[in-house]
Amino acid sequence: MHIHRGNIVFTPTPQDFVTVEGGYLVVDGGTIVECVEELSDAHAGVPVTDHGDRLIIPGFTDAHVHASQLPITGLQCSTELIDWLHTLTFPQESGLHDPDYADAVYTQFVDALLRNGITGSVVMGTIHDTTGILVDKLAAAGLRGCVAKVSRDQNTPEDCRADTVQEIADSRRFIEDNLGKSPLVIPAIAPSVSMVCSRELMAGLAEQAAEFDIPCHMHLAENRTEVELTLKMYPDCADFVETYERAGLMKNANTVVAHAIHLTDREKQVIRDTGILIAHCPHSNLNLLSGVMKLAEYHDLGIRVGLGSDISAGHQLNMFSNIVAAIQSGAMNVLTERTSRPVLAAEAFYCATKGGGSFFGRTGSFEPGYAFDALIVDDSMWTRYKQMSLAQRIEKLIYCGDDRNVEHVYVEGRRLR
Ligand code: GUN
Ligand code: FE
Repeated sequence: MHIHRGNIVFTPTPQDFVTVEGGYLVVDGGTIVECVEELSDAHAGVPVTDHGDRLIIPGFTDAHVHASQLPITGLQCSTELIDWLHTLTFPQESGLHDPDYADAVYTQFVDALLRNGITGSVVMGTIHDTTGILVDKLAAAGLRGCVAKVSRDQNTPEDCRADTVQEIADSRRFIEDNLGKSPLVIPAIAPSVSMVCSRELMAGLAEQAAEFDIPCHMHLAENRTEVELTLKMYPDCADFVETYERAGLMKNANTVVAHAIHLTDREKQVIRDTGILIAHCPHSNLNLLSGVMKLAEYHDLGIRVGLGSDISAGHQLNMFSNIVAAIQSGAMNVLTERTSRPVLAAEAFYCATKGGGSFFGRTGSFEPGYAFDALIVDDSMWTRYKQMSLAQRIEKLIYCGDDRNVEHVYVEGRRLR
């Protein structure tokens, strides 16, 4: 047992922050037992780490990120998806065939996760076996992760795809090699997106997901031109979601789809009914002129939403910045689409913590039974010269925070930095 004392920020609701000022989090074996305002005799003798006036917040989950693309963040924004993929992204990914380069990039990536307090990440690697290096590095760091080797067999340069049978075999080998390496890091399948995958490939991967009971990770309805081309390629499908459904994908909640901007009512219903997680990637969606996802509407429909940096289409691994982008995208929807309500700060914070964290089970909140995946946050750079309520401190942190505020990072009760 261990007790952490500080200013605790729960995230159990999209409506509000729930806070306990100067409270105690009781942790047993990496799992939260309770959160109390005062200690009692029952806690006698349990060691206490006093974090003073620091904030204790749940660790972030980045629900969609391309680790291999970290070196090209911030380059060629304002280019639309398909041009961006061909001129910048595929050439970058092809470089990861080299294990030495993959090692260097993935080292940087894991360091950046730790620095930014991203305790859980849902990651796409590349088509290469070197994606296993990322699994090893996450496991060694003690971080939580879901890592997929990316699969493609068409409409992509030769060094970023494989033939269908080969790719199905390669995906299986990746799963077998990486399953069980660490209790915190799970492999997944990732048919990148319908346009670059044959139905045969997607069906083969869907079978592997069922056989090994592992997650599926895809892109969905990101760009209007992409949606049009996809429906031309799959003329028997009425919408984008159906291209996945006909291959046996989109079946259960152990699925994450990135973007999901341009959806029909039927597609929203399928996502809501299956409990699939949408990774909302607001920076990416503006950088690539993809569109503005309607987070408030999706939440009101009861759809599960996490927040994704989508490095490198998004340019910020800083999750505070991604939260603000989600709030501002919500404002844009009010202004241009006359949607009924804005996105609240608490709502976007919820996506970055409990929303995305739900992909890993009970993470992203401080309710009993949740993992103690937590950040100790130092905001004294602001409280030093301005008195603020706890609620104001959280708001300030969201809008102005970055890696300088993340002092310590815990995953399952273990301090990683
Ligand atoms: N669609 C297919 N591949 C990608 C990618 O790497 N990034 C984004 N944002 N969309 C994609
Ligand atoms: Fe992406």
